[in-house]
Amino acid sequence: MTLLHHDITLAGPWVRGDLPGPRSAELLSRQQRRESNARTYPRHLPIAIEEAAGSFVQDMDGNVFIDFLCGAGVLPLGHNPPELVDVVTKQLNRLTHALDLATPAKDAFIEAQLSMLPPGMRDRMKIHFCGPTGANAVDAAIKLCKTATGRGDIVAFQGGFHGSSHAAMAVTGLVEQKAPVSNGMPGVHFFPYSYCTRCPLGLTPDTSATNCVGYLERSLVDANGGIPLPAAVIMELVQGEGGVIPARADFARRVRALTRDLDIPLIVDEVQTGCGRTGTWFAFEQYDIEPDVIVASKGLSGIGTPVAIIMYDARLDVWAPGAHTGTFRGNQLAFAAGAELVRIVRRDDVLDNVWRRAAQISHRLAELEKHPWVREVRGRGLMWGVELADPLDGRPAGKLARTVQANALRRGLILEAGGREDCVVRFLPPLNVRAEVVDTACSILIAALDESSPTPSR
Ligand SMILES: Cc1ncc(COP(=O)(O)O)c(C=O)c1O
Repeated sequence: MTLLHHDITLAGPWVRGDLPGPRSAELLSRQQRRESNARTYPRHLPIAIEEAAGSFVQDMDGNVFIDFLCGAGVLPLGHNPPELVDVVTKQLNRLTHALDLATPAKDAFIEAQLSMLPPGMRDRMKIHFCGPTGANAVDAAIKLCKTATGRGDIVAFQGGFHGSSHAAMAVTGLVEQKAPVSNGMPGVHFFPYSYCTRCPLGLTPDTSATNCVGYLERSLVDANGGIPLPAAVIMELVQGEGGVIPARADFARRVRALTRDLDIPLIVDEVQTGCGRTGTWFAFEQYDIEPDVIVASKGLSGIGTPVAIIMYDARLDVWAPGAHTGTFRGNQLAFAAGAELVRIVRRDDVLDNVWRRAAQISHRLAELEKHPWVREVRGRGLMWGVELADPLDGRPAGKLARTVQANALRRGLILEAGGREDCVVRFLPPLNVRAEVVDTACSILIAALDESSPTPSR
């Protein structure tokens, strides 16, 4: 039975024997010998992937897994969606790379992206093609705002993740990653995010959102606050790598109001939340705010061919020709697939599936809220996280989350861990995932958590 056939006919994964199987183990050991110590995913997902289709991947030993990592949110229609494969194959024979020159594929892609903006934004936003990573687009957004304002400081939020380049890392909360690298980008100021479950100000959930944004408001207008008026505020509306933390609505709106009042460009990093992941094309639409700069990447092409953009208010467009160049800004395969992705999302009402599957996940995982090791189940659209904490002292249970991840893999489900000390087990399924696959994945997660939790269990 081919894997594609499996995806269409069966909801269940299958895994035989220990992981990694012998053929995967061979590749993993070569990988360990030859690849960088900085490699990440294979450390917790010890499999070598042979092929994939839809929501499933098959490793080299014939084990089939449900993939709820999806290239860290890169595959909105799952692996190798046939229509996108078709479009990419045709484009492959036509034109693959064209720097930032005009091409029909690029033109269609731009048209598609602008058409997904709220009507009031379409005509005033400009688009810039960046080097093909989210981090490069974050760098571009920071440079754009510094150039346009003539200011140098940036406000970012604790727990945020914006990438691993020097500047993107500087605005990222993850201390472990930046501590060994000296002389990072200066002038970054971190403020608390509305992470009410672990309120950074130590307050109760009812008051924390207003207090954390209130602290930002007071700091930026305080003549003795120590922070010059910044070039930009950068924020995620759902902190993804930070542990799937949706911003509270009043928090996000007040950040927008403050930045507007003080004439500070607001950069919304939609690298992970964009392209329909949260149920609207961009997450900011659900907050009723309009950012000045949008950063997008991951799901843009729909098939993993890399592309990254910023879309920004035309009034910021004062940087010079060549201000942010890069050889790989003209991936025609990504453009052709990305335009087709938008067409498919509209045609198949994929966003409606996101809402329905989100309701299903919420319903299925609600039972975990009683589990002694579960601190919170939270999500938005098809970004979900189960935060684990020690029932005795409330400390993040990162070790348990990694055990759950390993046991879920053994049961046939690929998932990721993130958040403080990696204590949040995460779901990032394809946006067109089927109900029975979601159901199986939820059952595996619940079983893996039961199996992994130290006693006393539920
Ligand atoms: C919100 C956000 N911004 C930026 C990035 C960096 O993107 P990339 O890994 O493509 O550089 C990520 C990656 O996970 C992300 O989640």
